[in-house]
Amino acid sequence: MSSEETQLNLSQPSGGLNEFDPEIAAVLVDEYNRQTDKLEMIASENIVSPRVMEVVGSVLTNKYAEGYPKRRYYGGCKFVDVAEDLARERAKELFSAKWANVQPHSGSQANMGAYLALLDPFSGEDGKKVPIMGLHLNHGGHLTHGSPVNFSGRLFDVHAYTLDEKTGRIDMAEVARMAREIKPRLIVTGASAYPRFWDFDKFREIADEVGAYLLADIAHIAGQVAVKLHPDPIPVCHVVTTTTHKTLRGPRGGMILSSYEAGEIMLQGMPKPKTVPEAIDSYVFPGIQGGPLMHVIAGKAVAFKEALQPSFKTYIERVLENARVLADELMKRGFNLVSSGTDNHLMLVDLSNKGLTGKASEKALERSGITANKNMVPGDKQSPFVTSGVRLGTPALTTRGMGIDEMKQIAEWMDRALSDVEDKELHKSIRAEVKEMASGFPHFQEM
Ligand SMILES: Cc1ncc(COP(=O)(O)O)c(C=O)c1O
Repeated sequence: MSSEETQLNLSQPSGGLNEFDPEIAAVLVDEYNRQTDKLEMIASENIVSPRVMEVVGSVLTNKYAEGYPKRRYYGGCKFVDVAEDLARERAKELFSAKWANVQPHSGSQANMGAYLALLDPFSGEDGKKVPIMGLHLNHGGHLTHGSPVNFSGRLFDVHAYTLDEKTGRIDMAEVARMAREIKPRLIVTGASAYPRFWDFDKFREIADEVGAYLLADIAHIAGQVAVKLHPDPIPVCHVVTTTTHKTLRGPRGGMILSSYEAGEIMLQGMPKPKTVPEAIDSYVFPGIQGGPLMHVIAGKAVAFKEALQPSFKTYIERVLENARVLADELMKRGFNLVSSGTDNHLMLVDLSNKGLTGKASEKALERSGITANKNMVPGDKQSPFVTSGVRLGTPALTTRGMGIDEMKQIAEWMDRALSDVEDKELHKSIRAEVKEMASGFPHFQEM
C-alpha cells in the first residue's frame, strides 16, 4: 500500500504525504533526483540499501527504550532488545571486537561518550584541563578531535599534531616528540580527510611510553577496517569509535568498539571502579544521551549483516580501486594530490598550483554535476571558508556500480570543468554528459 492509500488513525490529520505535505514531498523527490542525476563524490556519503531504509522508516521509531537490553527504564522493550542484541553481536563479529555499544546517535556522540568515559576533563595537574592529542582540523582531523569550536577543544587541553607538509603524511617522529613533552592522557587517531593508512602500532608504542589511552576514530575507514583492507585498530587501541554511514554503508549513526573485555582495564577516578566498557556504556546513557534511536539501531543491525557478506569485501575492493584510478588520472592531468595518492577511499586535491581555490572549484564542479567539498590542505594560505583544496571520495559512486571507465571519465570532466571555473556554458555542457552517464547507474538494482 502506498502512503497515499494508507488509512491513518483517527487522531492524525488525513491524507498521505503528497496530499498532506506537498512541500516536504517535493523535497524528497528533488533530493532523490539530485542524488541520482549527479555524481556524489563527498567522501563521507554513501547509499543505504532499501532494506536499511525500510527499517529506519519503520514502527521502531515509535519506541522509547532508555537503558540497555534487559536493563531498560521502559516497558515493552522485548522486541527492540532483540534488535539491539543483534546489532551488538553483528558489530562484534564484523570487527572481531569483544564489546560494542551501538547507541551513539552520531560519530560525534560516540567520541564524546568515549572521551568522557576515559577522562575527567578537569583532572589535570592542579585541576587544570587534561591534555590530549589529535590530528589538527586543517590537516584532516575532525572537529571532535580537539577543535576550539567543539566540545573537545573546550573541555580538554588540546595539542594538535600535523602532517609533514612535504610528504603530506603524519610526522610520527613529531608525534612522539610532542607526546613526550605534553604527556597527553589520550591520543586520538583517525581523520576526516587523510588519504593514507594509519600506523596504529606505532601510535600504541608512543601512547604506552607516555601513559596515554589510544583511541581510533575510524568513522571514514570503518568499511576497510571491517574487511581488513586497512591496518586493524581493534586489537591495538583501547577504544575505537566510528560512524555507521560512511564506507560502512549503514544508516546515519555512531558506534563504539573495544577489544578489552570487562575487567581488563580499570578506570581511575570514577565514583565506583569501572572497566572501560562499563564506563562507556554509562557515559553514552545516561551520561550524554537519552532514549536510543531503536529504528536506527535496527538499521545498523541490517547494515552489519550486509557487511558480513562476502560481497561487501568486493565492494570495498572496488571503492579502493576506483579511488586509486581517479587519483592517478587526476595526477596525469597535472593535479597535485596531498601525499601524491591514496591508500583509502578518498583523496585531497591541492589546487594551489592551478591558481584555484577550493570554494570556486566546488562551485564549478557542482554546476557540472559533480558534488564534492572544499577542504583545507596542509600549509593552506586560504581561510577555511575558501581553502585551496577539494576532497573527493568513491564510496557512493561505487555503490551505484561505477568502475574504472567511469573514474577515467570523471577525471576528464573535472579537468575540463576546472579549466575555467567561471565558464557556466562549459559547466552546463558537462552537466548534460554527467546526467546521461549517471542515468545508467541507478541507486538500487532490482531485488
Ligand atoms: C573522523 C570523523 N569522526 C567523527 C565524525 C562525526 O560524525 P557525525 O557527523 O555522525 O557526528 C566524522 C564526520 O564526518 C568524521 O569524519
